[in-house]
Amino acid sequence: MHVLVTGGAGYIGSHTVLALLEAGHSVHVVDNLSNASAESLHRVEKLTGKKVPLDVVDLLDRPRLHEVIAGGSFDAVIHFAALKAVGESVREPLLYYRNNITGTINLCEEMALAGVKAIVFSSSATVYDPSNPMPLQEEATLGAVNPYGRTKLMMEMMLQDLQVSDPDWRVWLLRYFNPIGAHESGMIGEDPAGEPNNLVPYIAQVATGRRQELRVFGSDYPTPDGTGVRDYIHVVDLAIGHVMALERIAHEAGGVQICNLGTGRGYSVLEVLAAFEAACGKKIPYAMHPRRPGDAAVCYADPAYAEKVLGWRATRDLTQMCEDTWRWQSANPFGYADAPV
Ligand code: UD1
Repeated sequence: MHVLVTGGAGYIGSHTVLALLEAGHSVHVVDNLSNASAESLHRVEKLTGKKVPLDVVDLLDRPRLHEVIAGGSFDAVIHFAALKAVGESVREPLLYYRNNITGTINLCEEMALAGVKAIVFSSSATVYDPSNPMPLQEEATLGAVNPYGRTKLMMEMMLQDLQVSDPDWRVWLLRYFNPIGAHESGMIGEDPAGEPNNLVPYIAQVATGRRQELRVFGSDYPTPDGTGVRDYIHVVDLAIGHVMALERIAHEAGGVQICNLGTGRGYSVLEVLAAFEAACGKKIPYAMHPRRPGDAAVCYADPAYAEKVLGWRATRDLTQMCEDTWRWQSANPFGYADAPV
């Protein structure tokens, strides 16, 4: 298939572009590079020996988006492009609503004009109400608790309404849990701008000496060791999930599918820390801090539906997630700003 990947230069996007090329598909990337680097795609080109066309286009730039989509002959779109920092979304909600929602409206309108009515959407476990019992099934109560999460939920709803209005649309909503890890080559990985918000990129930067110590947010949760529990999923497993959803879209009639992508297993902050120490062979300094506002104690998926509907299951364990993150981070301590490999 010929696939347009929005946000394809980012962390999950670049791993998915690689997986698509490895599966024999052709891709075209649009990305505004606001939190991504074209270097990620140069490295995908080195890994695959294939060209990855990139248009540096913002989804808010309607005329340029029109040019790309109208002339693209795409079979489907995988839509990653969005802002994703929870704290920033609380401080600048309108930025998040404009970027994520308007960007998605522009994208869908241009897709409809071009007759491309198949989309795999990058959603998140953040759309679930945090008071649900675990594990989270797709039918769990929805209710995001911050502007970022609400944009994800609204984008899901928009796509569902669109599909009702025009049954030709084929929509897959993939709700990710906590993506970590990197491609096993160590050539592509997560490269957050500024201080990382998320646990594993933070630990990885402490391990290289770029940050002093990890702050563990909360040691009094009702969990076995008192720290928060999450369902960490290897980014390559996640990327493969996208390829499988895309290949399913090619053969199906219109409809909406909603699917968790997680492992079904939760690990605490201290368990992740221990696994990372084993992977990098160093002690990671850390200190206990109060809970981070807005954090849940425990969050993990019921991944059964993904296995049933897609035949997809995560196969990479926490050890591999940490080893692959470390291979990437130690070879690229400053991410893509390091000298090209
Ligand atoms: C966060 C976002 C979520 C988003 C996801 C992926 C919040 C409240 N949620 O999920 O909406 O979809 O990232 O981008 O921000 N932790 C520490 N020290 C740190 C960082 C994290 O102890 O420096 C702890 C957290 O308290 C949590 C766990 O590590 O228990 C995982 O945190 P993180 O990686 O930020 O992911 P989430 O909070 O699950």
